[in-house]
Amino acid sequence: MGSPAIAILGTGSYAPAKVLTNDDLSKQVDTSHEWIFTRTGICERHIANDEETTSFMAAAAARIALADAGLTAADIDLLIVATVTPDMQMPAAACFVQNLLGVPARAACFDVNAACSGFIYALDTAWAMLASGRYRHALIIGSEKLSSVVNWKDRTTCVLFGDGAGAAVLGPARGTAEILGTRLYAEGTHTNLLCIPGGGCLVPEPAANPEGPQRAIAMKGREIFKIAVRGMEQATREILAGHNLTPDHISCIIPHQANLRIIHALALYLEVPNDRVFVNLERYGNTSAASIPLALDEARRSGRIKPGDLTLLVAFGAGLTYGSALVRW
Ligand code: UT7
Repeated sequence: MGSPAIAILGTGSYAPAKVLTNDDLSKQVDTSHEWIFTRTGICERHIANDEETTSFMAAAAARIALADAGLTAADIDLLIVATVTPDMQMPAAACFVQNLLGVPARAACFDVNAACSGFIYALDTAWAMLASGRYRHALIIGSEKLSSVVNWKDRTTCVLFGDGAGAAVLGPARGTAEILGTRLYAEGTHTNLLCIPGGGCLVPEPAANPEGPQRAIAMKGREIFKIAVRGMEQATREILAGHNLTPDHISCIIPHQANLRIIHALALYLEVPNDRVFVNLERYGNTSAASIPLALDEARRSGRIKPGDLTLLVAFGAGLTYGSALVRW
């Protein structure tokens, strides 16, 4: 007998109420709505307040996903949070979320750090653990408070990122819905292109040299752009080929929401019309690990995903990591 079919049973998302527009940013750094919008497609992003920690936002998204799945926290025996902005270095954000939700002590709770590919990495991990038969219901959450690691004086990065969370509940398939495949990749030769150099054991904070690397995002945007398009195209083509499918079989592609030009370049290379690619980054900016589950939840709730549809999730991020997932609804 093969592994049991595992499906996404419910989704949810959360974004802080506070919105920071491009015009607001142009009062803080030397930038403009015109530059940000034409180079990225972003118009505004949500910014968390002091109470809205990564675990707070994760728990808020998770409650909606649990209700959508018709389950409660008591049903969960696996909880994975994908994040690069945990509340603390330790313990894991997943343990904070467990406490907020009341997930039982018999659950395995841990974080994954694959940056913007984190949700795909969490999906792959949870799927494998559920398919093993040793766990029954998983909660996987991408949650980020990137505003806490942005250098608000650096116009080349501060205009790109936002805060938010998205969650999915995984469990035994109930109908046609099923997770069909995942592909994960990493190129550790490119760790220098996107990183938070300070705050780890290499450069502990407070840094001895205040002019040195800080606990803030440092990025080589132009280099990442090219690898992002190439990596996401590879992750898409290889997963589709593995299932004898072509891009035409996919009714909705949900890509990591970093830059509209990256998304449109991917669509062009795959020869997919832009209207089959879901985009919401104009309202959220890049929310790293939260980006795909936030977009997935919006796509489902807005009717862009219907029962029986094939959806492809595809991401890239720091590492550099990239990956894809093929999901039937
Ligand atoms: O989840 C992964 C996260 N990272 C990414 O996705 C990054 C991928 N890369 C990108 O999205 C793009 O490379 C950026 C949006 C980051 C930058 O766009 P670009 O078209 O590659 O611009 P650039 O870096 O080549 O900069 C062009 C010019 C520069 O000025 P000069 O040297 O030509 O005089 C920058 O200094 O734009 C300037 N610039 C800005 N001007 C106004 C950079 N940031 C800004 C800004 N406002 N915010």
